[in-house]
Amino acid sequence: MAKRSGGSGQPGATWALIAAAGSGERLGIDRPKAFAPLGGRPLLAESLDRLERSALVDAIVVAAPPGWEEPSILLAEELAASKVVACVTGGATRAESVGAALAEVGEEALVVLVHDAARPLVDEALLERLLGPLAEGYEGVVPALPVADTLKRVRDGAVVETVSRDALVAAQTPQAFLAPAVRRAFSGDLSGVTDCASLVERAGGRVAVVDGDPRLLKITTSDDLALVESWL
Ligand code: C5P
Repeated sequence: MAKRSGGSGQPGATWALIAAAGSGERLGIDRPKAFAPLGGRPLLAESLDRLERSALVDAIVVAAPPGWEEPSILLAEELAASKVVACVTGGATRAESVGAALAEVGEEALVVLVHDAARPLVDEALLERLLGPLAEGYEGVVPALPVADTLKRVRDGAVVETVSRDALVAAQTPQAFLAPAVRRAFSGDLSGVTDCASLVERAGGRVAVVDGDPRLLKITTSDDLALVESWL
């Protein structure tokens, strides 16, 4: 599929990677989470459609669940998602899936957005918030929400300590990176990594935080799916 120019005016400047290769066992369905039904279409369709229609995104790469590459390509075609330039087979971990998608990103890329298919309700206002700090010297930007609950460190079913939540936030996706920074970060060890920003941080990159969005809930259970469906 062809690449085309997006909101930056620079062809291929901003690439969005969609990590969609998780099994989603906790949903208890007969297919990977990205193909769970949401509003009458696969979960993956929601974020794919939204990123395709974004004026800020030039090109998209999907990391599909192993064996689901073809249905992912067909879905992109059904959605007329012509920004999708590749659909790769995901890896054993999220970081490996993102790494496989990153390998498809063109040399011309300036910014890479990494998003979870499991957070379908990505919107344009959030994408705009993410891109701001990249022009101000940051190498990465994460959306985050304040932590509402009291946090406790627990061992063997007993509280070890109560952790101050003052400086703590809960990170979401999409996360935005300068292309060289994320490429550098992914050239190292990917073990034990739960988000891309932590790799950039580990490599010494500065990562900014912007306001997240409560509607960017990550779907884990069927209750999450029903809740997000009610917001569509
Ligand atoms: O499992 P969890 O919901 O935390 O995964 C977050 C995102 O990472 C999901 O969108 C999932 O599809 C993706 N993922 C992936 N490859 C894996 C595991 C998870 O792309 N091996």
